[in-house]
Amino acid sequence: MNIVLMGPPGAGKGTQAKLIAQKWNIPHISTGDMLREAVKSGTELGRRVEEILDKGELVTDEVMKDVVKNRLRKEDTSSGFILDGYPRTRRQASHLDGTLDKLERSLTSVILVNASEQEVVDRISNRRICTDCGAVYNLISLRPKKDMVCDNCGVRLIQRSDDEAETVRMRYRLYMEKTAPIIEHYRRDSKLFIVDGSEPLKTVTTRIFDYLEKT
Ligand code: AP5
Ligand code: MG
Repeated sequence: MNIVLMGPPGAGKGTQAKLIAQKWNIPHISTGDMLREAVKSGTELGRRVEEILDKGELVTDEVMKDVVKNRLRKEDTSSGFILDGYPRTRRQASHLDGTLDKLERSLTSVILVNASEQEVVDRISNRRICTDCGAVYNLISLRPKKDMVCDNCGVRLIQRSDDEAETVRMRYRLYMEKTAPIIEHYRRDSKLFIVDGSEPLKTVTTRIFDYLEKT
């Protein structure tokens, strides 16, 4: 199962990707998580992208091409993968086609989780994350058992540095301008499944699982 998960910031890509990865035992490849990890560990890549991430802008297509190519070459993707947050531009979509061609593989499904700008701004203002294990919570829809503390590792939860309302609106605008147009690229292949991400979390999961079980 080789899946791409697309959608605006805060639509629920990461939340749903983790559940899909668990159920089908395939790696969850989130380019956002990989870049944040690089920033946290202070690697050369991290130093190059930190400011871009904080501003909510896009990292260049050339940098992302290598990040994704190197990850998809790893052995653990041989039985499938779920790519969350890549591709985000036309050029990235064509890079991904090229990388998969070389690996003699192809996408089996593209899932688009949709949500309106207001919905995502509201949701993201209530998002809290664990910097240790990467778990994502929501103060309204997915509360940790203990206030502001991660259920898995007991670490204090924080807000992402790109989660201020103004930065989220800018990320949403970039999504509409650069990413939404590539949906057509996938619609033509009849591999596209669209789900309304403004529905309750469990409803969205059920719809995606039902679709994946049929394909
Ligand atoms: P990335 O980390 O991918 O951010 P994003 O696309 O903006 O998406 P988010 O992670 O903010 O949201 P999500 O859809 O995963 O929602 P979540 O499940 O957390 O990228 C970050 C940055 O990295 C980019 O801005 C860019 O700089 C760079 N980057 C990454 N990839 C790149 C690329 N390919 N090219 C160039 N640059 C790149 O859910 C959000 C909240 O809502 C949570 O609190 C969750 O609990 C809650 N929630 C989820 N679903 C529901 C529901 N159904 N109902 C109620 N609440 C819900
Ligand atoms: Mg995410």
